[in-house]
Amino acid sequence: MTAPRPPVYEGHVRIAASILSADLTRLAEAVGAAERGGADMIHVDVMDGCFVPPITMGPVIVEALRRITTLPLDVHLMICRPERHLEAFARAGASSLAVHPEATAHPHRVLSQIRALGVQAGIALNPGTPPEACAELGDVLDFAVVMSVNPGYAGQAFLAGVLPKIGRLRALLADWSGWVGIDGGISPQTAGPAVAAGADVLVAASAIFNAPLGIESAVAALRAAARS
Ligand code: DX5
Ligand code: ZN
Repeated sequence: MTAPRPPVYEGHVRIAASILSADLTRLAEAVGAAERGGADMIHVDVMDGCFVPPITMGPVIVEALRRITTLPLDVHLMICRPERHLEAFARAGASSLAVHPEATAHPHRVLSQIRALGVQAGIALNPGTPPEACAELGDVLDFAVVMSVNPGYAGQAFLAGVLPKIGRLRALLADWSGWVGIDGGISPQTAGPAVAAGADVLVAASAIFNAPLGIESAVAALRAAARS
C-alpha cells in the first residue's frame, strides 16, 4: 500500500537541481536556467570537511539564493553536529533541511528543532545506512533522502543497489506521509528506475549543470525520463 503524500508534493515527481556542479561565478544565471527548465527546487550541498572530506558552502550561499529564486531551497547538511547550524540555515531561507543520522547523537531532537524553525525536516541515508535508522523518527520526519552515491562529490556512479531501500522505508513507516528523495548519479538513464522504485524527488547536479545540451534542456530531459 502506498502512503499518502503531503499536498505540496502530490502528483508528479519533483526535480531538485543541485548547485554543487553549477558555475558559481554565474550562479544566478544557472539557477534561472534551471528554473526555466522546470526545476521544482534548488538543492544545496553543505559539506564541512568533517562528515565528508570536502568543504563547500554555508548559509551565506543559501541567503544569496533566497534573493535570486522563489523556488524552495532544499539544504542537504553533510556536516558533523548539524544542531549547531540549524537556526542559521533557517534564517538564511532554507525550505527543507536534511541531516545524516550518523552526524548527531540526537536525530529525533534535531528533526524536532528543524520543524520548530518552520522548515521541513529530513533524514539522508548513506548507501551503507539501513532504512531502520528512521524507524523511530516517523513522528518528526517530513522527508527522507536515499543516497545513491556515498556523499561528498558530484559526478559519481549511481548505486542501483540502494533502490529497494525506498520501498523498505515506506513499509517500515507504515502510516508516514512524507516524501522520499533520491540523491546521487541521477541522469536520464537512472531517473526511470528511481521513480519506478518510488522516489518522489530526484536530486541531480552534474546531469543538469554539466550537461552539453544546456541546463534548461537537461532539466526537461530528466523530467521526460522520469515520466517514461
Ligand atoms: C553528493 C551530493 C549530491 C550531489 C549529486 O554528496 O549530496 O547532491 O550534488 O551530484 P550528481 O547528481 O552529479 O551525482
Ligand atoms: Zn545532496
